Amino acid sequence: MKKKLVVANWKMHLSTSEASILVHRLHEHIKTHRTIEVVLAPSMLTLQPISLEIDSRRFKLASQDGYPKDDGPYTGEVSFAMMRDLVDYSIIGHSARRIYFEEGLELIRDKVQAAVRNGITPILCVGETKNERAQGEAKRVIHDQVTSAVSNLTAEEIEKIVIAYEPIWAISTFDGEPSKPEDMQRAMEYIRQIIKELYGEAAASNARVLYGGSVEPHDARAYLSLPGCDGVLVGAASLNYRQFTDIVEIAYDVQNQTEDHA
Ligand code: PGA
Repeated sequence: MKKKLVVANWKMHLSTSEASILVHRLHEHIKTHRTIEVVLAPSMLTLQPISLEIDSRRFKLASQDGYPKDDGPYTGEVSFAMMRDLVDYSIIGHSARRIYFEEGLELIRDKVQAAVRNGITPILCVGETKNERAQGEAKRVIHDQVTSAVSNLTAEEIEKIVIAYEPIWAISTFDGEPSKPEDMQRAMEYIRQIIKELYGEAAASNARVLYGGSVEPHDARAYLSLPGCDGVLVGAASLNYRQFTDIVEIAYDVQNQTEDHA
């Protein structure tokens, strides 16, 4: 049984002390749930101090990015090799990186490969813009983003990957438009279908596919209950300990119900 994954993307928010306070609150409210995984993605600056503060049975860490070379004169960057002892996961290809930092398909492919090379599980983010959706381009965009990002991995490596479907128009800081869970399910199925065609059934069924885009406690259950949805990637609501705690509890509940029926 795959564990549902709840990922908190803190983006470029929270100073070291603010992050520490949030972690303290999360420890007070979130119990150890062995059947789900809760992953926190603080800023690069706060990763190290937070790693010393968290109870690793309850929380895992992710970086929000990383540089694909392991070492070298890349002033200002932090490589996956440098964070390999700190994080289990790395968010790669988030729409903020694709849009604000103009990250292209090849760079994202190299980052995915570098993360895997260093024993870090990529949380690859894919999704179309509002315009691309309006023009009927969503499937092509998702296809290109998924296919290129995993093209240097073996089928075995792809089995361990996490892919988050995050339509850009649904992300709170872009358009924040409401999404319909059944449409999101179709897109997530499509992602699995791409993996299946390229790398076979085992890779497709073992890879975890998440949904992200304005997930809040009131709709988290609808997304987490979708067949084939292995978890959620939460932005804005993850900065509020009450909201994030509620989402984690919903994930735990949905996971237990699924296990009862399995
Ligand atoms: P949001 O962010 O939940 O605030 O929409 C999700 C994300 O950008 O990963």
